[in-house]
Amino acid sequence: MNFNNFITLSIISLIILPINSQNVLDHGYNNLHINTTFPQINDNISSNLISLTIIYYDKVDLSLGNITIFHNWNKLQRISGTNNEFVTLDENGITVHVRIIPLVFDEIYYVSIDDDFVKDRIKKTPLGGAKEGVWYFKTIPSDEIPVLKVSVHKGYVQLTPEGTNYFNKLNKTEQ
Ligand SMILES: *[C@@H]1O[C@H](CO)[C@@H](O)[C@H](O)[C@H]1NC(C)=O
Ligand SMILES: *[C@@H]1O[C@H](CO)[C@@H](O)[C@H](O)[C@H]1NC(C)=O
Ligand SMILES: *[C@@H]1O[C@H](CO)[C@@H](O)[C@H](O)[C@H]1NC(C)=O
Ligand SMILES: *[C@@H]1O[C@H](CO)[C@@H](O)[C@H](O)[C@H]1NC(C)=O
Repeated sequence: MNFNNFITLSIISLIILPINSQNVLDHGYNNLHINTTFPQINDNISSNLISLTIIYYDKVDLSLGNITIFHNWNKLQRISGTNNEFVTLDENGITVHVRIIPLVFDEIYYVSIDDDFVKDRIKKTPLGGAKEGVWYFKTIPSDEIPVLKVSVHKGYVQLTPEGTNYFNKLNKTEQ
């Protein structure tokens, strides 16, 4: 490899590597602190959903920023991270649950998370949120949620929302 090629490769690596390492942590939320949520982005979920879940990579503390649920650009619910009537942090320090009002339309809902909804527990710094339009999901009538046939017992079991989410990810053979 001649010197010019070396320089070119080094520059390409410098540009590409940081982007790649970010993509590993960013699961679509434009945020390097959020591992996943429930519902996930673009999920189709039963309309009897009662809470949202956000799972961070590192331990957090709840803070002043709001989380907001939108339908057709209307704010349905806006809750501060410190409103412990609606927002709770599991003992693991990374899982946040947000109790929500009933979602009455079987349509698309958006959720935005303001900066400083949570703080990094160790560094005490506010974490960035999820901008409007990034996290969305659709509710569907609960009778359209697939059921799982149980061979041992007679009848069917109704899957929990989590179960449905898992079930929907399986390919046809696995289902
Ligand atoms: C949810 O349903 C829509 C069609 O209504 C589909 O495009 C989308 O891929 C589904 N999402 C998942 C996670 O299966
Ligand atoms: C992200 O969450 C998954 C479970 O959904 C877990 O297996 C994984 O270890 C988490 N990643 C990190 C870096 O904490
Ligand atoms: C959260 O929302 C409330 C109500 O809209 C607002 O008064 C408050 O200033 C917001 N908090 C922050 C930290 O932006
Ligand atoms: C479904 O998943 C199973 C297990 O992961 C795999 O063996 C099989 O080839 C997959 N089938 C299709 C049609 O993708």
